[in-house]
Amino acid sequence: MSPTSLASTPPMGWNSWNTFGHHVEEALIRQTADVLVSSGLKDCGYEYIVIDDCWSIKDRRDGNGNLIADPEKFPSGMKALADYVHGKGFKLGIYSDAAEKTCAGYPGSLGFEEQDAQLWASWGINFLKYDYCHAPLFDQAVAIERYTSMGEALRKTGHEFLFSLCEWGNQSPHLWGRKVGGHMWRVSGDVFDSWINIWMKDWNSYGIGVDVSIDIANDVHEYGGPGGWNDLDMLVVGLKGKGQIAGTGMSFVEYQTHMSVWCMACSPLMIGCDIRKLDRDTASLLMNRAVLAVNQDSLGIPARRVKQIGPCEIWTKRLADGSTAVAVINRGSRGEDVTVKARDLGLLDTPKLARNLWAQEDSADFKAELGLRVQPHETILLKVFPS
Ligand code: GLA
Repeated sequence: MSPTSLASTPPMGWNSWNTFGHHVEEALIRQTADVLVSSGLKDCGYEYIVIDDCWSIKDRRDGNGNLIADPEKFPSGMKALADYVHGKGFKLGIYSDAAEKTCAGYPGSLGFEEQDAQLWASWGINFLKYDYCHAPLFDQAVAIERYTSMGEALRKTGHEFLFSLCEWGNQSPHLWGRKVGGHMWRVSGDVFDSWINIWMKDWNSYGIGVDVSIDIANDVHEYGGPGGWNDLDMLVVGLKGKGQIAGTGMSFVEYQTHMSVWCMACSPLMIGCDIRKLDRDTASLLMNRAVLAVNQDSLGIPARRVKQIGPCEIWTKRLADGSTAVAVINRGSRGEDVTVKARDLGLLDTPKLARNLWAQEDSADFKAELGLRVQPHETILLKVFPS
C-alpha cells in the first residue's frame, strides 16, 4: 500500500486516554474490541484501537534498551494483544513521545527511534501517536527534526504504520506534517469536555473548549486532505464531564455540534468514551451513517466557514456525489432564525433539496433561500443536492 492510500479518508477509531488515562490495560482493550463489534461501531468504520500514554514500565527500559510493556497492565504481552485485535478486524495503535519522557512521565523515544519502531513492528502495531511533552516548545526546526527521525524509523521497519503527530499546533505541524511522513497532526492542545476553554491550574494552560476548536478548524482547513489530516483531537462525545479529560460536560446539542464540526472539518474521529457503557444518545451521535459519510467523503475537502450572521455561521463542504454538506452553527446563547441563501453555498437559484442529516429527514425544497431556526449551541447539518 502506498503512503497516500493509508488514511485516504480521516482515520476512525478509539483511544484510551480521554476516559482511562493511567488505567489503560489489556482487559479494557480486549473488551473495547469486542464492544466495537457488538455495538455496530466497527461497521460504521471505527477501525483503530489506540493505547495512549502509560502502557510501559515507568522508570526504565530493559537491559537491551527496549521499552517494557507493563506486565501487570498487559499480562499476555503486546504481541498477543495485537493478534487478538487483528483477529477482530481492527488495527492496534500505541503511543510515545519525541523527548526523554512522555507527558505522564513514562520513557519517551528520543534517541531510541529505530529501536522502538522495530519493537512495535515486531508486536504488529499499526499506528503511532507521537506526543511532544518535554520537548522544546517554540523551535520549529527541532520539532521537524524529531518527527522526521521517527517517521524515518517507522518507514525503515518495512511495516506499515499510520503516523499521528501530537504537537498541539504550536509549531504549525499543518505546514510540515506530511513532509515528515505524518498522516494526521493535532492542531490544538487537548480538547476538554466543555463548550468554552477551561483554565487547567496544574498544566498552567487552557484545556480547549469545543467552541474554540470551531475557529481553529477554519484557520487550518486548507491543509487537510487525503493522506494527511488536521486532527482536532479525540472526541469527548459521551464523557459527560467524567474521565481523565473531565470538564464541565456538555449538553446533547453541544456534543452534536462537536461531532458535526469534526465531521465537516475532516478531522480523525477517535472515540474517547467508555463504549462498554454506550448509551442511546451517545450511540446516536457516533453512529449516524449519513453524518459519518460527510467525514469520510472521498474528495476529502475540509469544510470552511463561508458566512457569519451574528453568532451564527454557515460552513460548506463539497462532496464527491456533487452535493454540498452545509453546517449552520449557532454559537450564541439564544435561539436564532437564519436564512441560508443558495448564493452563500456557491449554488444557483435552481430547485434544490435539503436533507437534515441529524434529523434524518428531507427538510425542504428551496431555490434561493432556506429559513432555519437554530437553537443555542446547535448545529443543523444539511446535505443539499439538485432535486
Ligand atoms: C498529551 C496529549 C494527550 C494525551 C496525553 C497523555 O496531553 O495531547 O492527547 O496523549 O498527553 O499523557
